[in-house]
Amino acid sequence: MKVIAIAAVGKNGVIGKENALPWHLPEDMKFFRDATRDQIVIMGRKTLEALGKILPQRENAVVTRNANLKVENARVFSEIGSAIRYYRENEKDFAGKNIFIIGGAQIYEAAMSLCDEVWLTEIDQSFEGDVCFPFYREGQFLRSEFILAQSRLKQDSANPLQYRFNEFHRKI
Ligand SMILES: NC(=O)c1ccc[n+]([C@@H]2O[C@H](COP(=O)([O-])OP(=O)(O)OC[C@H]3O[C@@H](n4cnc5c(N)ncnc54)[C@H](OP(=O)(O)O)[C@@H]3O)[C@@H](O)[C@H]2O)c1
Repeated sequence: MKVIAIAAVGKNGVIGKENALPWHLPEDMKFFRDATRDQIVIMGRKTLEALGKILPQRENAVVTRNANLKVENARVFSEIGSAIRYYRENEKDFAGKNIFIIGGAQIYEAAMSLCDEVWLTEIDQSFEGDVCFPFYREGQFLRSEFILAQSRLKQDSANPLQYRFNEFHRKI
């Protein structure tokens, strides 16, 4: 069971604006849906609010410090580490699944040292926003314990933005 952070990031590191995505990239959304379908997704409470609902066809986990939060059809954890531990300890119930850390910034930051891989959609444009990927500056992912393992140039048919699907793997 791998732990994979997945995010889309503007050149200046922006990932969100007013609790929403600052861009419209349908093919990136499709990539995200396909990658995470039937997998485990872990998100912060604010990202749950941004999505508006848990994601169907996935095992959903929400991380919050609010001990009273209940989310229908999702497991709630008080720490990212305990969420990952729960799935690893119960791996037989989640056979063949990977854990995707789907944001936002606070959760990427808290989870990074526990990730095996980081999948970034890196958009070749800067955006206005109020939330940034925590380890990113001027088009560069800054965590040196990961190396670029795969890179695919994309252009969305509905949008002139150019972007890359970049997969970083933890160095062995
Ligand atoms: N571009 C992308 O790929 C992408 C992906 C996901 C999200 N986003 C964007 O990112 C923004 C949201 O990100 P965000 O950083 O503001 O919020 P977030 O990480 O989604 O959620 C933050 C919340 O998670 C809980 N939390 C954070 N750290 C914790 C810890 N160590 N232990 C326990 N609980 C913890 C807290 O919940 P409580 O306050 O309930 O205690 C905190 O308020 C939105 O704009 C969204 O659209 C972008």
